[in-house]
Amino acid sequence: MKQFELAVIPGDGIGKEVVPAALDVLRTIAEVHGGLKFKFVEFPWGCDYYVEHGKMMPDDGLQILQGFDAIFLGAIGNPHLVPDHISLWGLLLKIRREFEQVINIRPAKYFRGLQSPLANPNDFDLIVVRENSEGEYSEVGGRIYRGSDEIAIQNAVFTRKGTERAMRYAFELSKKRRKHVTSATKSNGIFHTMPFWDEVFAEVKQDYPEVETASYHIDAMAAFFVTRPHMFDVIVASNLFGDILTDLGGAIMGSIGIAPAANINLNGKYPSMFEPVHGSAPDIYGKGIANPIGQIWTAKMMLDHFGEEELGSVLLKIVEDVTADGIKTPDIGGKATTREVTDEICRRLKKLV
Ligand code: NAD
Ligand code: IPM
Ligand code: MN
Repeated sequence: MKQFELAVIPGDGIGKEVVPAALDVLRTIAEVHGGLKFKFVEFPWGCDYYVEHGKMMPDDGLQILQGFDAIFLGAIGNPHLVPDHISLWGLLLKIRREFEQVINIRPAKYFRGLQSPLANPNDFDLIVVRENSEGEYSEVGGRIYRGSDEIAIQNAVFTRKGTERAMRYAFELSKKRRKHVTSATKSNGIFHTMPFWDEVFAEVKQDYPEVETASYHIDAMAAFFVTRPHMFDVIVASNLFGDILTDLGGAIMGSIGIAPAANINLNGKYPSMFEPVHGSAPDIYGKGIANPIGQIWTAKMMLDHFGEEELGSVLLKIVEDVTADGIKTPDIGGKATTREVTDEICRRLKKLV
């Protein structure tokens, strides 16, 4: 019997709706599998917690999380209660950074039963490897002067180690796919960091002569995502570029509510964290109509991480079947609720035994 202990943080907004849905799916998977057991320990951390305690999680929050096999998170952010930069840096970004979750893997592909805004989305199947610990998301900078002379400075920090690590991860991953890596750059406009990014990419690719490469400026690349999606397989991108590209990837699939993600710790010192690409969606929270597929696909990525790839593939196929059969939430043109989609996925999983 394999047992995994998961720290569950539903967080804010629809995180509180889609996480319970994905936990039901994981419970059903354990039932179907027989040799797999999950222990879920839930933590009510987020913006409501902040209102009560003046912090997003307890002071020993990271220590508490450290002992788990993985962290399963919904979304963080309720700008009506707490400014985003406080809530995100107090929980989500803090965990990513402190637990050295240096890589964010974000797949996007044509999904059966979904209406993509593209005329021909069939060849859309890619993975963005997002550098997850540095780049444009740095704490270096500040605000000086006030009033009409005020200046805000944000320094982007790119280390050789961090940049190379993300690129090598992308090249290794590409060996299991189409052996093609595209670098997202902007070395025509960003003076220091992006020419550096290009240089490191040119160096790293020397070690992978069997892998084809391409490189585009991020602005042109965003357009190619829409006009020539078949050009891409594995993409390596800086923290901010990867962030933006993966919402676009979600939209091309048909909804950002579908897109999954995994924040990976590579050195084994800390747990990895699994959370979808989307946020807390305050505009639909409480209606019971949030699409649970992003969170469920994220659970599949966690199963992959635990070495249960076969089961994860079966799950994803069932999710696609349910979608193709029209049982879908309003964001993808259906009328079903979060619960109805989840129950149908669980029902079909149970039929496997
Ligand atoms: P968002 O992803 O929450 O929502 C963008 C749009 O997509 C909204 O119209 C929303 O209704 C829709 N959407 C998102 N997920 C959906 C789902 N599962 N089903 C159906 N529709 C869905 O982005 P935002 O509005 O920019 O941010 C809202 C809050 O979430 C902010 O506080 C932001 O900082 C935070 N945020 C958190 C994370 C995270 O925790 N990983 C990610 C992104 C945004
Ligand atoms: C994401 C989110 C976060 C990010 C925000 C909420 C800080 O957009 O996970 O994609 O930018 O990484
Ligand atoms: Mn994002």
